[in-house]
Amino acid sequence: MIRGRFITLEGGEGAGKSTQVLRLAAWLEGRGIEAITTREPGGSPGAEAIRTLLVDGATDRWDAVTETMLHFAARRDHLRVTVLPALERGAWVVSDRFADSTRAYQGIVQGAGDDLVERLYAIAVGELRPDLTLVLDLPVEKGLARATERGGENRYERMGRAFHERLRLAFLDIAAADPQRCVVVDADDGPDAVAGRIASVVAERLS
Ligand SMILES: Nc1ncnc2c1ncn2[C@@H]1O[C@H](COP(=O)(O)OP(=O)(O)O)[C@@H](O)[C@H]1O
Ligand SMILES: [Mg+2]
Repeated sequence: MIRGRFITLEGGEGAGKSTQVLRLAAWLEGRGIEAITTREPGGSPGAEAIRTLLVDGATDRWDAVTETMLHFAARRDHLRVTVLPALERGAWVVSDRFADSTRAYQGIVQGAGDDLVERLYAIAVGELRPDLTLVLDLPVEKGLARATERGGENRYERMGRAFHERLRLAFLDIAAADPQRCVVVDADDGPDAVAGRIASVVAERLS
């Protein structure tokens, strides 16, 4: 039985997801809640092996359907090995990306389509949904500048400015279509301010 809560952080490159999953887990721990952080693609040994196929190499190495299937294969392993056992023992799971990234990147921007994403979701994930999804939003140029400063540019970061502009709108559309689950967080601010906004949303939605 699932006793913990499942929180996902979404958004484009450099939005601050990896920074904020750590901040949020620390904030939860400070309130006496056991919290683990994890990431997608990846988060289990098998899924991390699949991750390298997705984040390395030429931008056009996969067609959109193959890429969507690789993400869901990784996601299923991540859920089975990492996420579900944690939720079952009562821990909260804070994930750096989850299925909304597949909806936005592969489904909408890369053109695999919503229908394929939802069919694969039903097969690979089943009934599980995040309890809360925080969509970190900021202007594309600022996100890409942060990512460039961080270094180690990956395959998705190389996909170009127009790709990332469409991606931002895709995440906003996904959030608008599911307001029960998703909250858009203004990420165009310092890390402390963004962490404070996230903590307020979590306190309000999941208290
Ligand atoms: N609110 C912020 N303001 C400025 N820089 C930030 C902020 N949050 C994160 N960063 C820095 O920007 C870069 C990208 O942040 P990161 O958390 O890795 O983003 P993401 O995981 O969404 O790609 C990192 O070098 C990080 O230290
Ligand atoms: Mg990151």
